Amino acid sequence: MERSVSPVSAKPLLRALGGEAVWPPPAWLMRQAGRYLPEYRELRAKAGDFISLCTTPQLAAEVTLQPIRRFGMEGAILFSDILMVPWALGQPLRFAEGEGPLLEPLRSAEAIAALHPGTVVERVAPILETVARVRRGLAAEAPRTTLIGFAGGCFTVACYMLEGRGSKEFAAARGLAYADPALFGRLIRTLQDATVEYLVAQVEAGAEALMLFDSWAGMLSPGQFRRWVIEPTAAITRTLRRRCPGVPLIGFPRLAGPLLADYAGRAGVDCCAIDTAMDPRWAAQAVPPTMALQGNLDPLALVAGGAALEAEARSILAAMRGRPYVFNLGHGIVPQTPPENVTALMRILRSA
Ligand code: CP3
Repeated sequence: MERSVSPVSAKPLLRALGGEAVWPPPAWLMRQAGRYLPEYRELRAKAGDFISLCTTPQLAAEVTLQPIRRFGMEGAILFSDILMVPWALGQPLRFAEGEGPLLEPLRSAEAIAALHPGTVVERVAPILETVARVRRGLAAEAPRTTLIGFAGGCFTVACYMLEGRGSKEFAAARGLAYADPALFGRLIRTLQDATVEYLVAQVEAGAEALMLFDSWAGMLSPGQFRRWVIEPTAAITRTLRRRCPGVPLIGFPRLAGPLLADYAGRAGVDCCAIDTAMDPRWAAQAVPPTMALQGNLDPLALVAGGAALEAEARSILAAMRGRPYVFNLGHGIVPQTPPENVTALMRILRSA
């Protein structure tokens, strides 16, 4: 009997996340929609502030599709931000020009108890509408490209909620985790529940794969990493397996170092994203050969371009050849990236 291959299962990114060694590997880039693209800057100016851009489906969908039109990546990541969950929980948020995100920091047990997990899905309705629009857009324009939904890892989001802004130390969050683990745990649990509801809603709206960005995971001691990164991630993936069977999950425990092996074994993700500092050859040994890896080109090599870019990309490709793998950066694209270097990178990948 002839087996019919559905167009969905034929998408290269979904095949790689499902454990197939697809070659040349599917690719997308963290922060692929953003300030390095003139068409983004133009639309961003029209929207006014960043939150308005994230909550105006027509504009957010357009921005999501811009890099796909220009470069043809195999993955399209929803244009939004990990801090839209605290925003949906009722914590005041703004993005100040040149300063990054600013939240009214949570300073008491009462402030944590006053968050509104029950209304998260309602508040993110415009973002879900963006997901649905992008999915329709991809079906029409880029049928081999997979739509990736996302959320922040609970620990990373808690860092911003307690500190109120970016920080080198995130002392408020890491300090509270030691001083009052019960209270910190209540915040993590609130985020865990909100994140599950948010991700399930993204899948229902059309997301085909999901990613959890735990950008500050690498600041934790090994014991704290297991408790505040691996355990909440495992709780989220257990529920997602039940409620969204077959939807692959990428985890990004940035700067995990050797704790990546633990994370890969216990967090329940289908794919581990690795940061720039990780040796791809080490990661390829530390993670089971059937589990996909994603990463980890230095965003600054993409700024430099030329021979440096080609050499860095080829050495990562050599480490990943023969295993399920998704090409990506080790952290987000930076605004000074020349778009033509992204074109050059895509050409290098296609000839791999
Ligand atoms: O292409 C994509 O990856 C899509 C969307 C996306 C954004 N942020 C858009 C964004 C995603 C997946 C994120 C994740 C995110 N946001 C993370 C995790 C990944 C990482 O980079 O570590 C974190 C920590 C945030 C929080 C955040 N949002 C910060 C610290 C900043 C300021 C830094 C900056 O680049 O300005 C943002 C703002 C932000 N999020 C921008 C974009 C495109 C820039 C806003 C603008 O256009 O002015």
